[in-house]
Amino acid sequence: MMLNKLFFRKWILAVTGLFLCLFLVVHLSANCLLLLPQNTAKSLYNSYSATLRESPLIKGIAYLLYLSILLHVLYALLITLSNRKANPVKYVVNKTSQNSTWSSQNMGMLGTLVLIFIVIHLVNFWARIKLGLGEEVTYDKSGNKDVYQVAYTLFHNFYFVLFYTLMAVPLAFHLYHGLKSGFKTLGFYHHRGLQLLAKLSLWYAVVMGIGFGIIPLVVYFK
Ligand code: HEM
Repeated sequence: MMLNKLFFRKWILAVTGLFLCLFLVVHLSANCLLLLPQNTAKSLYNSYSATLRESPLIKGIAYLLYLSILLHVLYALLITLSNRKANPVKYVVNKTSQNSTWSSQNMGMLGTLVLIFIVIHLVNFWARIKLGLGEEVTYDKSGNKDVYQVAYTLFHNFYFVLFYTLMAVPLAFHLYHGLKSGFKTLGFYHHRGLQLLAKLSLWYAVVMGIGFGIIPLVVYFK
């Protein structure tokens, strides 16, 4: 009974986590538009962003995304608390370090940093653009919300850029271990297959970390 409950919680964590990983691929690809020359970047980024906001299908997927973030955080918390309850004493000799990676032992801390990043990110971008909170967003020549200008202004603040670039590190470590163990939870047990998935997770994490870390820097020096 306990095992079923734990498996269900881990399953929810894996499914929501893999969905969030998929979202990040699309999100990074779209944000790469910011790397283009200024005028091209502005018109493409703004019209892409407007298309997303107006599409009923994407609106539905966005709600699924918010739900996934909430469930992912909630179930990560439930699993951590029940692990602590079952294992309240920290052993003096901790054997886990011999057969697990640094990121797997620090998923709670890494996840918390990613969550802090997401909250700050949503306040600065999403709440302004989608909810109209805070400083008003202007419109470009085509009549689209000037989302490019929002990113451009924020990424010309040195501390903001530093924060984004530094946060790409815990994000990459969290994604590396999360993706690897997500595949395992969903039933990929085959040894050779797992080795391949571990490599894929590593590459995925490296691309996401470098991509999200470098975009603010490139915009800063534009
Ligand atoms: C270079 C870095 C990034 C840039 C420039 C960026 C830009 C944006 C923008 C402009 C939006 C609002 C989209 C709109 O409503 O039109 C947004 C939303 C969002 N971003 Fe990012 N983002 C970046 C990195 C990240 C990272 C690393 C994560 C997650 C770890 C993330 C998670 C989200 C989420 C969950 C939303 C809400 C999605 C929605 O409602 O459609 N972003 N981002």
